[in-house]
Amino acid sequence: MTAPLLALDQVSVRYASRRSAAVEGVTLSIDAGRTLGIVGESGCGKSTLAKAVMGLAPVSAGSLHYLGQDITRMTPRRRLQAGIGMQIVFQDPQSSLDPRMRVRDLITEPLLIAGRPSAGVAETLADQVGLPSDALGSRPHEFSGGQRQRIAIARALAASPQLLVLDEPTSALDLSVQAQILNLLLDLQREHGFGYLFISHDMAVVRHLADDVAVMYRGQIVEQGAASEVLDAPRHVYSQELMRSAMSGQAAPAVESLT
Ligand SMILES: Nc1ncnc2c1ncn2[C@@H]1O[C@H](COP(=O)(O)OP(=O)(O)O)[C@@H](O)[C@H]1O
Ligand SMILES: [Mg+2]
Repeated sequence: MTAPLLALDQVSVRYASRRSAAVEGVTLSIDAGRTLGIVGESGCGKSTLAKAVMGLAPVSAGSLHYLGQDITRMTPRRRLQAGIGMQIVFQDPQSSLDPRMRVRDLITEPLLIAGRPSAGVAETLADQVGLPSDALGSRPHEFSGGQRQRIAIARALAASPQLLVLDEPTSALDLSVQAQILNLLLDLQREHGFGYLFISHDMAVVRHLADDVAVMYRGQIVEQGAASEVLDAPRHVYSQELMRSAMSGQAAPAVESLT
């Protein structure tokens, strides 16, 4: 059996300023071409988990492996240089994209860090994510939220990733734009076989995208399994509560317009 793209074993994260662990004992794995959805209420540790996966949060216990290679103590820069193909897209491209940089440089920066050639790459990636090629000379603030998220996705793709961590990538967008970005992510996955760690508080979106689902509660995964099982027949009392409130909450957005 080949190693999974990403495997976490009993990973914990402790922030110095916080008494309890923000993430505690998380074990999960993602294979190529598959999407693991992470759900849970605000503050339960989803973003901290995403950052831990990317080497951006202090892992205090446990281990992370990428295609069998131990990356637990590798910095993001070191990972890029070592060709570890993992990138993240954050919820808010407004704050994740340096406003002073032109789109072309934002997209190719990961290549620069990795010491790889970047000629022509920005054009190809802009095309792949549906950005007009004349966008490359502009700065992020000149674009709408959806276009900015396309820039963030193009930047993530520059490092030739096999795994994308998507932390609420559409939560800040209008519903129609959400659907476009989700469809783009689905198309990219179909074409390239990416593995996705997809974080969302929107059950309808998770239902549409995820093969497997893990439910987080107070830093721990309380339940994980096939998406249909976890979403339709949750076993843990907290997951049941989460699904109930999702059903009684706002109307399912975007999904009807997904293809
Ligand atoms: N950099 C940090 N330093 C200290 N505490 C943090 C930091 N980032 C997040 N936290 C705390 O860790 C917990 C989990 O936060 P977070 O991972 O952002 O949750 P979620 O993404 O599920 O909303 C929260 O209690 C939050 O206040
Ligand atoms: Mg978050």
